[in-house]
Order: sequence, then structure tokens, then C-alpha cells
Amino acid sequence: MLFNRVRQITNLRNRHFLKLHDFRIEEIDFLLRLSDRLKREKYAGKEVQRLKDKNIVILFEKDSTRTRCAFEVGIFDQGGNVTYIGPSGSQMGKKESMRDTAEVLSKYYDGIEYRGKYQRVVEELAKYATVPVWNGLTDEWHPTQILADLLTMQEYSDKPLEKVSFAFMGDARNNMGNTLMVGAAMMGMDFRSIAPKGVQTSQEVYDIAKKIADFTGAKITVTDDPKVGLKGVDFVHTDVWVSMGEPDEVWAERIKLLKPYQVNAAAMEMTGNPDAKFMHCLPSFHNLDTIIGKEIGEKFNVEAMEVTDDVFTSAKSVVMDQAENRMHTIKAVMVATMATDDFYFVDDCCL
Ligand code: CP
Ligand code: NVA
Repeated sequence: MLFNRVRQITNLRNRHFLKLHDFRIEEIDFLLRLSDRLKREKYAGKEVQRLKDKNIVILFEKDSTRTRCAFEVGIFDQGGNVTYIGPSGSQMGKKESMRDTAEVLSKYYDGIEYRGKYQRVVEELAKYATVPVWNGLTDEWHPTQILADLLTMQEYSDKPLEKVSFAFMGDARNNMGNTLMVGAAMMGMDFRSIAPKGVQTSQEVYDIAKKIADFTGAKITVTDDPKVGLKGVDFVHTDVWVSMGEPDEVWAERIKLLKPYQVNAAAMEMTGNPDAKFMHCLPSFHNLDTIIGKEIGEKFNVEAMEVTDDVFTSAKSVVMDQAENRMHTIKAVMVATMATDDFYFVDDCCL
């Protein structure tokens, strides 16, 4: 056990969530249990609305399906109100600084979500906002996604998280590779980052994770050998080989570099674990049924990219439950940082 769960009081009210390690390990654990509780309440048709009269603005400088909808549905379920601002149509960043935007929005809203390229932008918003700011993805970190990933691994495993092992194989120095490594370190897990040289985790992110792992007992492995990294794992994660905002020119080099790191049937076999599950934050290029997938697939003569269609659609794949959990976990973040009912900050919330 990483910490004593019995006597702990957790109060996240008014806290920003800009990267996973903004919260303490106990606080992440609390959010996972609050997510579980909110999910059960919704399933039972007994959801209590804790965000009544709360106004929330969600800012998206990059596209989104899951994160946007998870915030919106989470807010609707909890009785709050939401304004969506996309890449165009507001003054933000163009005629108005993030500082001024943060100060103005704090006058109207009780919480601000932001998705965009730079971590420094969400940090700037948080510095000047007087209400909680949540990171809905930057190039560096994707903290709300990792909460959903941890919840999903917990649900699909009969072991506590600190006994679970998982791999991330692919473009490891992106927001997903980074945040999964830190998440694994925080929860004391056995994590393998599998990527060829050139797209491996940066030293800076590794050092953050290693420092946490030294405290929690997590095992962090970085390797370019899929056989070594996949051996015995409970879960295999991947993500797109080219992330939002990267130029089209990188596709050729990325496909060449990462083809041996595709999650296919052979990779799942390499785990040696017949119960190993496949996970992906989505969206995914597992076939050519999208505009970009078709264009890239035809240009480079590939049927799929980071994961093959047979693995993606197999019984091993838990990606849709993982996507659902975005909503329960994002809802937990909003309730924990904005709701005014003290009960929800007491650590027995899920008993
Ligand atoms: N996983 C994820 O963040 O999906 P969206 O880009 O659709 O929000
Ligand atoms: N690494 C991906 C994650 C998408 C949810 C991207 O940034 O595009």
C-alpha cells in the first residue's frame, strides 16, 4: 500500500490541474475513487448534481471529440452550464493576451478548461485565473486522459494498480508517453516505454518520473526492444505516430521509424500474456476509414499505422471503455475542484 487511505481528508477545491503531478499521489487515488463513485451513481440513475449554478468555459485551440464531449456531458449531468470556445471566434491569443483572457473569464466562470499547443499557455491562464484551470491537452501533458487510463486499468485488472505492468509503444516523447510514464511512477506501477532512438522519452520527463518512482517503488524501463518491453505486461498502450500540430512532412520519417513498433497481433503475442489488453487514447489510425488515414495509407502503402485493425477491434481491446472513462474522470476533476459540498472531500467518499 502506497499510503494510508483510512484517515485521509482530501480537499482539491480551487486547485488547478495542469499536469498529473500537480496533485499528490493520494489526491490522484482520491480522484480515481471519486470517478468510480460518480460512474456508479450515473449507472444507477442516482446522480447528485453538485455543479448546479456553476458556469464553465472550455477553450479548444486544437480539435477534440472525447475531451470536449466529456467536459460537456459531465457538466450537463452535474447540472452546470458550459460555453465552448473553439480555435476561432474569440479574441483569445489574437487580440487579447492569455493574462487578460484569464482575468476576464474568471469574472464570468467558475472553471476554465484549456487545450492547445503549449504548456506555458495553460500555465499562464492558471497564473492569472482566480478559478480552477484544467489542462485538456498540450504538447507536453494530457493529465485528464491518464486519469481515465488508470481507472480503466484498475477496472480491467484484479490486482491493485501498484501490481499492474504496462507498456507504451510508439512515439514515446509525446504528451501521452510523457503523462503515462509519470502516472505509472505515481501509482507505483511497472512501466515500459518502448520506442526507437529519436522518439524516446526526454531526459527531463524521465527524471521527473524516476524521482517519483524512487519514492513509490515504481519500475520505469526505457527500451528500443519490443521483446524486452512487452514481456509479461498486463496492458499495451499506443498513440498516433504524428500528433496534432505536427507538420505533414514528418509522416514519411515517422512511419519508417515506427513501423517495427506497431501494435499488431505479433506484438500482443510478445507479451506472453493471453489476458493482455490493448489501450489507446484515441483517435486512432487503425484502418483507412478517415480522410487523413486514407491519404497517408495510400501514399505510404500501409493498411494501418500505430495499431492494426484486428487488434483494435479484438476482444483484447478496451479502448471504448477507456473513452467512456474520460467522462467519469473529468467529471470527478470538476466536482473535486469546484463543488462546495464538503462531503466530497472526505476520503471515505467511496465507502
Ligand atoms: N483522447 C482524446 O483526448 O481525444 P480527443 O482528442 O477526441 O479529445
Ligand atoms: N498525442 C495525441 C493525443 C491525442 C489525444 C495528440 O496530441 O494529437
